[in-house]
Amino acid sequence: MMDGTSASPRRVTILGSTGSIGTSTMALLEAAAPGEFVVEALVAGRDAKGLAAQARRIGARLAVVADPAAYAALKAELAGSGIECAAGEAAVLEASARPVEWTMAAIVGAAGLKPTLAALSHGGTVALANKESLVCAGPIVLEAAKRHGALLLPVDSEHNAIFQALDGSDPSLIEKIIITASGGPFRTADISVMRSATPEMAVKHPMWSMGAKISVDSATMMNKGLEVIEAERLFPVHESQLEVLVHPQSTVHGMVQYADGSLLAQLGAPDMRTPISHALGWPKRMAVAMPRLDLAKLGSLTFEAPDLVRFPALRLAREALRAGRGAPCILNAANEAAVALFLGRKLGFLDIATVVEETLQRLGEPAVDGLDDVIALDAEARAVAQRLAGLRALA
Ligand SMILES: NC(=O)c1ccc[n+]([C@@H]2O[C@H](COP(=O)([O-])OP(=O)(O)OC[C@H]3O[C@@H](n4cnc5c(N)ncnc54)[C@H](OP(=O)(O)O)[C@@H]3O)[C@@H](O)[C@H]2O)c1
Repeated sequence: MMDGTSASPRRVTILGSTGSIGTSTMALLEAAAPGEFVVEALVAGRDAKGLAAQARRIGARLAVVADPAAYAALKAELAGSGIECAAGEAAVLEASARPVEWTMAAIVGAAGLKPTLAALSHGGTVALANKESLVCAGPIVLEAAKRHGALLLPVDSEHNAIFQALDGSDPSLIEKIIITASGGPFRTADISVMRSATPEMAVKHPMWSMGAKISVDSATMMNKGLEVIEAERLFPVHESQLEVLVHPQSTVHGMVQYADGSLLAQLGAPDMRTPISHALGWPKRMAVAMPRLDLAKLGSLTFEAPDLVRFPALRLAREALRAGRGAPCILNAANEAAVALFLGRKLGFLDIATVVEETLQRLGEPAVDGLDDVIALDAEARAVAQRLAGLRALA
């Protein structure tokens, strides 16, 4: 394993810098001591204005937007700054592949897969928020990290918590891993409310402030399903050793139960700066100025089993993980397509899981041999999901 803390100042890149995780990462870098970090590249989708403002503030060398149509705006915003700018997929990959000590991989969705692989190719540390890349191409991502001697650190709060509670333990002594879930905005909602849920209701997360896609995934609990798959990829356990517990206070982020009966948990406020800072400082801890947990004020922590009837996405994700081959890629792509349609008011909330299930049934469990197969299957599953969603809209 590489210790990414050896070089000073450390060069870092943020993929998805204008998003929720990207903004929290920027906040940590901006709060750090002068000269501790230098920013090589910031990458966004199309928010040229937000990206340029970040790049100017932090003195990035390069700013890249994926959408070529946003290039003119980015160039205009950066005029006179001396900051290099570029646009398009090739430019995103070139920026991701620039050698740095630490990369935050926080592009949303399978769009983050190739940039994450490019970031792994230079053998630095990659802090992985982009769970979808591990879901759709887990073996490829893990093999790339190994081949290039790169270090992959989990940023998802649950996986970061589990990583902390595992602390290099003997895998044969791990009985189970518990991934907690807030339960989202519909935890106690009647199914009739969920049937007519609007995007505004679905993205209103009770505990976390996040991007729109992951907020909807939290509301359907597909997020927890993706996290079960992510955990199976990252940690030395079988799917049957991964338990999901609904914990509405979002205080305990993850737990590991050992053979001696010990249950080790990581607790923290529902604020992504803690797991991000853990990955940024690792193997040391960083001081982060933010409100601390007040357990006396919190009073009680509660846990309950998830309701697989109102939240079928969790069952679908486990089935896809058990099926293996291309099934997790299909699950992820169909979910991304369905969530985008729901956010565009073209699909009902409960239809998201139905479309994912039907797409999985249509496409079966095809073999995936390498990145090209994953990209092709991802595109096919999106197209099938869109067709199935269209049929539901007409019905
Ligand atoms: N938010 C959380 O608390 C949280 C927690 C755990 C894990 N995660 C994971 O972290 C990832 C990011 O989540 P988020 O909530 O930060 O999402 P978000 O707020 O929607 O931000 C997404 C970021 O990706 C950029 N982007 C979108 N498409 C792109 C493309 N094709 N190429 C390059 N950049 C692109 C966006 O740029 P524009 O702004 O220009 O669109 C934005 O910077 C997701 O995989 C999510 O599951 C998030």
